[in-house]
Amino acid sequence: MKLRSVKGTNDILPEQQGAWSAIVNAAERVLGNAGAGHITVPIFEYAEVFERSVGESSDIVVQKEMYAFEDRGGRTLALRPELTAGIMRAFSEHGMHTRPAPVKLWSYGPAFRAENVQRGRYRQFHQIDYEIVGTDSPLADAETVQLMYDVLAECGLTRHVMMLGSVGDPEDAAAYNAYLREQLGPRSADLSEVSRERLRLNPMRVLDSKEKQDQELIAGLDRPLDRLAEPARMHFEQVRRYLDDWGVPYEVDTSIVRGLDYYRRTAFEAHHQGIGAQSALGGGGRYDGLLKLLGGPDLPAIGWAFGLERIADAMSEEAASSSAEDGDVRLFLVPLDEEAVSEAAGLAVKLRPTGRVEYPYHRRAPGKGLGEADKRGATHAALRGQSEREAGVWQLKDLRTGEQRAVSQEDLKALLESAA
Ligand code: HAM
Repeated sequence: MKLRSVKGTNDILPEQQGAWSAIVNAAERVLGNAGAGHITVPIFEYAEVFERSVGESSDIVVQKEMYAFEDRGGRTLALRPELTAGIMRAFSEHGMHTRPAPVKLWSYGPAFRAENVQRGRYRQFHQIDYEIVGTDSPLADAETVQLMYDVLAECGLTRHVMMLGSVGDPEDAAAYNAYLREQLGPRSADLSEVSRERLRLNPMRVLDSKEKQDQELIAGLDRPLDRLAEPARMHFEQVRRYLDDWGVPYEVDTSIVRGLDYYRRTAFEAHHQGIGAQSALGGGGRYDGLLKLLGGPDLPAIGWAFGLERIADAMSEEAASSSAEDGDVRLFLVPLDEEAVSEAAGLAVKLRPTGRVEYPYHRRAPGKGLGEADKRGATHAALRGQSEREAGVWQLKDLRTGEQRAVSQEDLKALLESAA
């Protein structure tokens, strides 16, 4: 039997890798310029790290989406369903609160959730994650939203929309949940099964339902944003003022509810209409209190995560290419005789520290060599035969414009350098 990949996992093939690197590079540029340090944490942890943080009423716990298993010592470990919990565990373990506050961290890598698979929803997916710890200033919230917007813009996207809301302080959320129970409790028999369960565990999540029967019941009800007490309302207004000042486009979403339990106050998502039902490119919010829950210091924090697969999907929908890719040079050397084969090999060794250079291991006729260069995705081909050898040059052809000229080895190096 032919072996196949596990359902909900994807291979990222060489031709897709360029877009993926462009996304990670865009994030690194934008977040690095904002002062974020790169952190890498393990992809598995004690299950408790995630259970405590994502919360008992999150889909991850309720719908048993966590890939948990026992190790040989009988401890329960789990593959990470997201990156925030592990980063906060590491923050606390390494006493990072002693560093100058606020501490900004970013990370990327795989995450795992045993979900129902569809376009944009996988069991192994990849996140880019950004966290800022040690400030409760609304300025940090606004900056965090702006950075999310900017990473997407840096990826070349133009059709993303930021949705901004607030889930309030824990007291607001408790009061709103009580309100929903009061309103929906007597009519719970008319709710879908999932919403009935949510009404029991975390009523706010009923607002996330796309079921028609639920929509009808919640249509006339107040939204979390309508019922914020003064402190959270003021905070939200300030966040908005900064974003307006900076000209960051967003829409207010009065009923934004995030799938993880740790949020309070600012909550936001970035959406893209071109990628199907799972339209959230990323999401995040403030999560003061989570570090303490994990046994660390009681510091406020806010952050977000993107799904890399979804950004790549949106990029191909928009046929967007990152600025990083535009100036790319990929050189293919075409040896026209036997002697040129070893010259090409030697030159490739010399030039590769500067850029991408390939060559065939046998001599080629010019037409065949150029065809091969094209098939291998080269932007330029450099041909060499007896007459070029005598003149001490290579015939360089720009495969995008068709332009051709004789150049020296140094010129080829300079061409690759210009793209680096
Ligand atoms: P999240 O909303 O659960 O938040 O996930 C963030 C993003 O990861 C989603 O918007 C989506 O693009 C992607 N994603 C999630 N699940 C899947 C899946 N099964 N398949 C493909 N993509 C997926 C978090 O994970 C929080 N840790 C974000 C955060 C950071 N909040 C504060 N700091």
